Amino acid sequence: MSKVTRKIGLSLGADICWPGAYEEIVKRLDLELPIDGDRVRFEVDRVTVEPFDLRQPCSYDVVIDRLTHWFHTSREWIKKAVIMDGLYVLNNPWSLQANEKHTTYAAMMHLGLPVPDTWMVPPKDYTPTADLKPTLNRYARLFDLEKVGGQLGYPMFMKPYDGGAWVGVSRIEGPEQLTKAYDNSGTRLMHLQKAVDPFDIFVRGIGIGPQVHIAKYDPAAPLHARYEVAFNYLNDEEASVIRDMTLTINAFFGWEFNSCEALRKDGVFYPIDFANACPDFQVTSLHWHFPWLVKNMVRWSLFCAATKRPMRRTLDWEPFYAVQKQDLPFRERLAAYAKIARGRFEEERFEEFCATHLQQLDEVAFEFFGSARAHELVRLKVEALFPAHEVARFTEHYWGLLQFWRKTERDRIDAIGKPAPQTEARHARPVGKSS
Ligand SMILES: Nc1ncnc2c1ncn2[C@@H]1O[C@H](COP(=O)(O)OP(=O)(O)O)[C@@H](O)[C@H]1O
Ligand SMILES: [Mg+2]
Repeated sequence: MSKVTRKIGLSLGADICWPGAYEEIVKRLDLELPIDGDRVRFEVDRVTVEPFDLRQPCSYDVVIDRLTHWFHTSREWIKKAVIMDGLYVLNNPWSLQANEKHTTYAAMMHLGLPVPDTWMVPPKDYTPTADLKPTLNRYARLFDLEKVGGQLGYPMFMKPYDGGAWVGVSRIEGPEQLTKAYDNSGTRLMHLQKAVDPFDIFVRGIGIGPQVHIAKYDPAAPLHARYEVAFNYLNDEEASVIRDMTLTINAFFGWEFNSCEALRKDGVFYPIDFANACPDFQVTSLHWHFPWLVKNMVRWSLFCAATKRPMRRTLDWEPFYAVQKQDLPFRERLAAYAKIARGRFEEERFEEFCATHLQQLDEVAFEFFGSARAHELVRLKVEALFPAHEVARFTEHYWGLLQFWRKTERDRIDAIGKPAPQTEARHARPVGKSS
């Protein structure tokens, strides 16, 4: 048996808390796994930014990337390493670069998901370019914005076709407001989308590989309280719909870490924003949910690194289209898409890997999230975001929520293996399958 080391790289920008937690947990796990005749160990370090020869080899097996959507040097290094050196990266950089929110709406509408009606309107203003005038003079048709508004219906949302972080999003109640919002939209290419209104539940399905963690969300709350700590707010079927939607979207676009927002109205979940392939991973937003996501990332990335799972470099939409053509009832159709997704994420093999090799993760994470290092990471993140006079208060606020997670986690771990009653475990778990 030979000893091999699998190297995992973290490609980071401003992130502080999750990489620190991830590194510490992998270190504390101190794994040496018997895989295919080898003893496999893991090393984690951070990817640096520097000149590179396209022909130079890449020392990483897996990279968890948080930069591709805006930092080109890292993105292009990753692309060359995937093509030339067999690097496994999450998420697929080509898909991230090419597939804006608009494409995701189109794709999921086509697959039959209940995305609210959405229009695209040409921008109000343009940055001048050589061919702009003849192009617009010849081909841009004057249009009546209020007529489009009337066809779509109010209330609606105007939002950038490639949006993120709520920038440029406005809720529109009527024609006057629509004209005003459009006049102020400048050069941004916008969607108009029918509001899901009123909705009674807002959830985010946060997928990492085949795992989906579901969080209840309140968009009207202050930033630190938008992700809610809530239990049993979805029934099993609803949770399963959110999981299946999230996995379908993620497998379709080659995103192994993505968050899918859906709003429930009259019992139907409408997905409204699911091109979030660099989702929020900060303890200051996720608090109680944070350990779930760190653990899910540890599991999935170790699985990918340990098994040398090949990265799917191209997307291959055909199997999804083949299901779409069958014209099945919605739930059966969604289940059929999710089956493709689970196959692509090797759900069974992954679960077997976790059961065989990562049994101790629950206890290791439980200990870690009560440690001085975890407290320090929370403080460092809070210091980076909050004014000095709020640092102590908010550090303790988030720390308190992590300790509450430990309490619910203790109950959950203790309930595993006990034949009955299972109800305690259910109450202690977030809705959705997270482990
Ligand atoms: N169709 C819609 N119905 C109801 N609320 C919406 C709709 N679209 C957007 N919103 C609200 O606006 C917020 C921002 O829109 P979203 O599409 O998520 O943009 P971003 O990509 O900037 O997060 C959502 O979190 C939600 O609160
Ligand atoms: Mg959003």
